[in-house]
Amino acid sequence: MADDSSTSSQIPPAINTNVPQTARIWNYWLGGKDNYPVDRQVGDQILEAFPAIVENARASRAFLARAVRYLAGDAGIRQFLDIGTGLPTANNTHQVAQQVAPESRIVYVDNDPIVLAHARALLTSTPQGTTAYIDADLRDPDTILQEAAQTLDFTQPIAIMLMGVLGHIADDDQAQSIVKRLVGAARSGSYLTMNDGTDTSEEVVEAARIWNQSANPTYHLRSPERIAGFLDGLELVEPGVVSPPRWRPEPSPSGLPAEIDSACGVGRKP
Ligand SMILES: C[S@@+](CC[C@H](N)C(=O)[O-])C[C@H]1O[C@@H](n2cnc3c(N)ncnc32)[C@H](O)[C@@H]1O
Repeated sequence: MADDSSTSSQIPPAINTNVPQTARIWNYWLGGKDNYPVDRQVGDQILEAFPAIVENARASRAFLARAVRYLAGDAGIRQFLDIGTGLPTANNTHQVAQQVAPESRIVYVDNDPIVLAHARALLTSTPQGTTAYIDADLRDPDTILQEAAQTLDFTQPIAIMLMGVLGHIADDDQAQSIVKRLVGAARSGSYLTMNDGTDTSEEVVEAARIWNQSANPTYHLRSPERIAGFLDGLELVEPGVVSPPRWRPEPSPSGLPAEIDSACGVGRKP
């Protein structure tokens, strides 16, 4: 689908191939093929200003896998609500969770039609578990909660995952109130897992400027402290809010991995 040779008749009409889209640019940096020339053009422009973006994308995905392994393992979570899923890639939430606990139930949510078009690859559940996909907007948490309740049991703990998506909500108060609504609907013992870009280097600030000139939707970097603020009121899982490579890294002979311009954390609802 993403080849330059794609013909317009193969592309579902809702998919706009003239405007670069976040899920497809992210897919490009992760080495995927579900992207178009417009996405690669902006992706390359950003890569030039901020060469660490590829490492950043991969480290963020690696954090997602370690966090889900922790949640399904040590934390005993069996239900996941992954909002801002992105295009299917390696180690999607259901694959990691169901490897630990095959009975895990996962609901994916995204508002990009291309993610919907590829959703079949996200719906490959184990027979014991379930996966579902909701085509919805994070700015409408009530709809997400209502539809997710068809698959998830809100009387049991749930892990809410907001990975690389809250930055797409520009207004701080709106982002905070969305988090409050989602966490408020989950019972005690539930978790919020998040990861977002930080304004911690000149290069990443320039990358966000280029992004916001042409890509859709816009992305707003926040300070690590502001990102940590979204987890206020929750019990932070060690080591707290840190750069993703430093969140429970696999043991390495070369010591602590380098930081990237992102902040991530996992918090438990008391
Ligand atoms: C940077 S990608 C992150 C993908 C994945 N969570 C990861 O960590 O690899 C952001 C995703 O959020 C989705 N997204 C952006 N704004 C959204 C919104 N308002 N509602 C739902 N999804 C949104 C995009 O379509 C895209 O798939």
